[in-house]
Amino acid sequence: MSLPNLQIALDHSNLASALADIVKVGEIVDIVEVGTILCLQAGEEAIRCIRALYPEKLVVADTKCADAGGTVAKNCADAGADWMTVICCATIPTMKAAAAEVKEVQVELYGDWTYEQAQKWLDAGISQAIYHQSRDALLAGETWGEKDLSKVKTLIDMGFRVSVTGGLDVETLELFKGVDVYTFITGRGITSAYDPQVAAQAFKDEIKCIWG
Ligand code: 5RP
Ligand code: MG
Repeated sequence: MSLPNLQIALDHSNLASALADIVKVGEIVDIVEVGTILCLQAGEEAIRCIRALYPEKLVVADTKCADAGGTVAKNCADAGADWMTVICCATIPTMKAAAAEVKEVQVELYGDWTYEQAQKWLDAGISQAIYHQSRDALLAGETWGEKDLSKVKTLIDMGFRVSVTGGLDVETLELFKGVDVYTFITGRGITSAYDPQVAAQAFKDEIKCIWG
């Protein structure tokens, strides 16, 4: 089992505040995500800036794309993104069109989806999935638990590299001990911390402690 990656999600409402945070933790994290909120506010410019700052890092555009996959993906790739996300209700042609333009596409699991659909994503050559607790579900009182673990394990058994995200804190990681999680994605767990650098390092240390 390899060490899960740590991905920071930059869900800032403006580029200046995203850049102020990423320079504190960019060398600690493995993957930098231009979050959905930032994509909507300053997408192309944000991807270009992150790529220029971190030429060697994996950069993800969390577009949660639902349509026009090829065009959106080409724009993201031209700006410097390696990967982009598509929403799970997008059609297979949308996913395939996106996959033709970026290095990899990740399917964002939100709302209703089935393992039958998931098999079709695999059959289409898409082998990354992001298992989410949405912000709004967490605000409504949802918590991480066995139900999530079981879905994540099933997706891994099917052959997906699975990222886990949504209101994660360092303590949540323990739940996934023994599970071959590909990446933990955290936004506010780092960016809302009193000291983002200390918070990012704490995630890294805990990953090493559990999976190392
Ligand atoms: C929400 C997202 C976020 O980027 C992801 O959930 C990480 O953010 P946070 O740790 O703040 O929940 O894609 O749709
Ligand atoms: Mg995101």
